[in-house]
Amino acid sequence: MNKSVMKVGLLGLGTVGSGTMQIIQTNQEEISRKIGSELRITKALVRDLGKERPNLDPHIQLTTDAQAIIADPEIDIVVEVMGGIEPARSYIAAALTNGKYVVTANKDLMATHGSELLLLAQKQNRGIFYEASVGGGIPLIRPIKRCLAANKILSIMGIINGTTNYILTQMTEAKKDFQDALEEAQAKGFAEADPSNDLEGRDAAYKLAILASLCFNSAVDVNQIATESITEISLRDIMYAEELGFVIKLLALGEETPEGLLLRVHPTLVPKEHPLASVSNEFNALFLKGDAVGELMFYGRGAGSLPTASAVTADIIEAARCIKHQIENGAAAIPQTAKPIVPMAESRSCFYVRLKAKDQPGVFGSVANALGDEGVSLDLIIQKRRDFNLAEIVLVTHDVPEANFYRALDRIKQIDSIRNISNVMRVLERS
Ligand SMILES: NC(=O)c1ccc[n+]([C@@H]2O[C@H](COP(=O)([O-])OP(=O)(O)OC[C@H]3O[C@@H](n4cnc5c(N)ncnc54)[C@H](OP(=O)(O)O)[C@@H]3O)[C@@H](O)[C@H]2O)c1
Repeated sequence: MNKSVMKVGLLGLGTVGSGTMQIIQTNQEEISRKIGSELRITKALVRDLGKERPNLDPHIQLTTDAQAIIADPEIDIVVEVMGGIEPARSYIAAALTNGKYVVTANKDLMATHGSELLLLAQKQNRGIFYEASVGGGIPLIRPIKRCLAANKILSIMGIINGTTNYILTQMTEAKKDFQDALEEAQAKGFAEADPSNDLEGRDAAYKLAILASLCFNSAVDVNQIATESITEISLRDIMYAEELGFVIKLLALGEETPEGLLLRVHPTLVPKEHPLASVSNEFNALFLKGDAVGELMFYGRGAGSLPTASAVTADIIEAARCIKHQIENGAAAIPQTAKPIVPMAESRSCFYVRLKAKDQPGVFGSVANALGDEGVSLDLIIQKRRDFNLAEIVLVTHDVPEANFYRALDRIKQIDSIRNISNVMRVLERS
């Protein structure tokens, strides 16, 4: 289609929307050359028309009426960067029905209603692009769909939440306690006022659902992803992990096994020599294994105005190319069935346990017996005297079935001299 101007409407002009506006302004010539048409944002939906918006392009008409964008026959591409499920979902559906191509950065929406929107796009012979919804500025979705198309993806493992990675890095490097590290992340804009979605692992689970669906060709229900929080991690855990040769990271893990998909998000002790151990602060990374390509790692900024807008703008360019070359359906094949999810109790892992016990002879022997009775063998042990006649014992087990480990932990809790189990985390095995 020989359009000299490709028109874009933004639903939202906040952090990501204004970054997208800035990139299109700054790199106008470069972008137009790549598309073969001028790319122009004509309208943007906002909530508050009175808000101060420095650097607003005077050619962009602001509106509080979504219909003015999604029903505008002049607009070719609708970009949803407002967030949340509703009304974003209805606006995207209406835009596709009206024949627009759609770009979105909305992980919550794509993780929960992605299949429905992709199917609608397919039915309308249009495309919906969502590169920015996972990993911010890191190219993940298109490389997985296109560049790795020849592979069967065996496993993925990622640090895909910048907030928790920032907090854990500050605890590790600056020895800040959890609360101080969280407050600093909030002050720097890396954590929201209500950070619970990030801390509890739900944000990472949304992103894992999107990635797993692509990598393992399965519909994935985000509610079936097991998640664990980082809020119980103390400086003592950080220091013991260090002494044992690990750093603590919130990992999102996905693997295809003969029994089904194993999907989980939990704090993990990562060996210092593993490539993910050196991913610090707000940076994200995805470590992937394909049967042909072997191991790969993607690394970069997982959030922020310009990095996220870089991915959004790339999607806009892709959508514009589809329109220009009349590639009607930009959407990938949509998984029609859901592979079974393997329950955590049926998976295997190495475990870290920190516990307090009375400092008296025989305690360690009883703990070792409880573990041995369930077939759990030990890899590493630290025992230190603490105050008030208490000893702190830190154990790392070999790889064991989860069910055996938790039965052994129940036995340990029954031992008289055990005062408490302070923390339990999974450990990534050294390869
Ligand atoms: N920020 C990041 O680093 C990042 C990274 C990856 C993905 N994302 C995703 O990108 C999306 C946008 O995030 P953001 O950080 O840019 O959000 P944001 O800064 O809060 O901006 C949201 C924008 O949408 C507008 N808006 C929200 N609800 C609206 C409604 N009901 N009607 C009209 N306008 C509405 C707001 O209008 P006002 O300006 O009038 O308030 C604002 O312009 C989210 O899905 C987020 O998960 C963000």
